[in-house]
Amino acid sequence: MNILLTGATGYIGSHTAVALACIAGGKLDVKSFNIVLLDNLCNSDLAVVDRIQEIIRVKPNPVKNTSITFIQGDIRDTSLLTQVLHDHQIDSVIHFAGLKAVGESVNNVKVPLQFVNRRAGDIATCYADTNKAFSTLNWVATRSLADMCQSAWLFEQSSTKK
Ligand SMILES: NC(=O)c1ccc[n+]([C@@H]2O[C@H](COP(=O)([O-])OP(=O)(O)OC[C@H]3O[C@@H](n4cnc5c(N)ncnc54)[C@H](O)[C@@H]3O)[C@@H](O)[C@H]2O)c1
Repeated sequence: MNILLTGATGYIGSHTAVALACIAGGKLDVKSFNIVLLDNLCNSDLAVVDRIQEIIRVKPNPVKNTSITFIQGDIRDTSLLTQVLHDHQIDSVIHFAGLKAVGESVNNVKVPLQFVNRRAGDIATCYADTNKAFSTLNWVATRSLADMCQSAWLFEQSSTKK
């Protein structure tokens, strides 16, 4: 199975890469599990790729024939995407490449960023369907964004008290 993860070195993307390799890769009965990480690094760092690999190495879950490939590139680069989809024979895409700040949507705090109209080269329409995540990975979202933020905040508080 070949999965393309966009925005892969960002916050959610990097956690998803680890979860795919250590949880999904270990559970799925597939001959090989290839995760292609794509990011233009506009809001993340190349060092994250090494950290993902490092975490996967020390995780207790078995990683069955999982390979990780990083490609630095922009999702608006159609010819690059076409080549990646073709060269890596991608079965599924998990898309996290974006610029919207999470704090803004959770706290209603205005972040001083400007979202502009689509420019030539931007994706015109984007379709997403979580049914494939369920049918192939047996994954279904059970928690809301607010649940996740509350949990992270409680974790932060308990960690700093020690
Ligand atoms: N963090 C959350 O709790 C949360 C919740 C709901 C939705 N989201 C959305 O999910 C997406 C990812 O969130 P995140 O918190 O991981 O953000 P993030 O900024 O940490 O990660 C986004 C990644 O996408 C990359 N990127 C941006 N534009 C790109 C482009 N054109 N081509 C290739 N790579 C590009 C950035 O370099 C970055 O590594 C965002 O759109 C965000 O609004 C986030």
